[in-house]
Amino acid sequence: MPKDDNAIWYPFTQMKTAGAPIHIESAKNCTLFAADGKEYIDAVSSWWVNIHGHTNSVITKAIAAQAKKLEHVIFAGFTHTPAIDLSKNLLSILPNHFNKIFFSDNGSTAVEVALKMALQFWHNQNIKTKTNIIAFEDAYHGDTFGAMSVAERNVFNAAFSKQLFKVSHIPVPNENNIDEVVKKFTALVNKQNVAAFIFEPLVQGAGGMKMHSAKYLDILLSVAAKNNIICIADEVMTGFGRTGKNFASDHLKNKPDIICLSKGITGGFMPLGITACTKKIFNAFYAADNTKTFYHGHSYTGNPLACAAANASIGLLKTPKCTAQIAMIAEQHRFFAKNISGNNFIKEVRQQGTILAIELNTKENTSYFNAVRDLAYNYYLAQGILLRPLGNVVYIMPPYCITKKELHKIYTAIAGSLPYLKNKLS
Ligand SMILES: Cc1ncc(COP(=O)(O)O)c(C=O)c1O
Repeated sequence: MPKDDNAIWYPFTQMKTAGAPIHIESAKNCTLFAADGKEYIDAVSSWWVNIHGHTNSVITKAIAAQAKKLEHVIFAGFTHTPAIDLSKNLLSILPNHFNKIFFSDNGSTAVEVALKMALQFWHNQNIKTKTNIIAFEDAYHGDTFGAMSVAERNVFNAAFSKQLFKVSHIPVPNENNIDEVVKKFTALVNKQNVAAFIFEPLVQGAGGMKMHSAKYLDILLSVAAKNNIICIADEVMTGFGRTGKNFASDHLKNKPDIICLSKGITGGFMPLGITACTKKIFNAFYAADNTKTFYHGHSYTGNPLACAAANASIGLLKTPKCTAQIAMIAEQHRFFAKNISGNNFIKEVRQQGTILAIELNTKENTSYFNAVRDLAYNYYLAQGILLRPLGNVVYIMPPYCITKKELHKIYTAIAGSLPYLKNKLS
């Protein structure tokens, strides 16, 4: 008899060995309230989606008001105000040259749409040779086939390796390897068959919260721009304030042609994916010829409830209060990073805006399956904190409404976990 004998097959979960899931009954701001009376600080924003806190009243009201008016309508041949407003809201905060907003349902579909847009951009111009995609090593772009294809090949997609399309992976550039990476990138580009370059700007999330500097990514983007390669920024995780600015692309001089958004867009209330593009991309599809149409869409595309949530969430993001909270989190992270960085059980502390990652110095290599992961996860839960380490990388990515007191509770738990974990592993 399986331990969890209900009918649900949970994601990213080995059902045989996983403990029973914690039943959450309600939540407010950063706190999750469990059915057994326990409370947890959601220090990872529930898979990085919740940016303004749980059951935020502004977003709750916006969804309720929209539900009374229009819950959904087919999004081809019909439109509605929440989607029109959202397209304007997004263009008001995205880098200037973005011009068109395409809707889908989640981060993976936002990436699928971006890849299809880039490939069909060339196809529509009768340039049939440009079909190769360049991506970064350690990349994660989602769990659908296109998204898996452009990701690092690893245990998560090994079962599908024969079905994944071929991609050229390059190392992420840094001060030590920049010349070598530019050389490799240029050699690929010179083959004249590259359609697009996809990347998670500044932070590779699921790959272990690996961070790189805008300076070196910018060098690659300028090579791409000179060679007419479509640049796709996957900002599914980094979007909406995570890196200290609205988008990680705001830290870059060279802007992408296509940007993928999801997660924080609705404040964590509703699934929604966005793929925004420039006029140059859109124009390759804009024709009297039906074969140039972008034939992609999902039943729930442009869902009005999701759009209403996103409009409310972007409204909150623009408030001085939210800006101040993002700055406060970044500052507190910096202090804590400085305080613990001398610990010999820590290999590296990395920070980008509201994201703080602490890589532990374990004997086992950095990997999702590192033995420290479960020990650390359970340790933090026992302290009333939801942290979900990626192998030996413990990271904090809180909702922006978190208080200094809550942050300090998290920092104290992490500091306290270091001797415990070191002792357990030795
Ligand atoms: C950078 C990035 N792209 C895409 C995705 C996939 O998003 P979703 O889980 O909503 O499909 C994720 C999810 O973690 C992500 O971090």
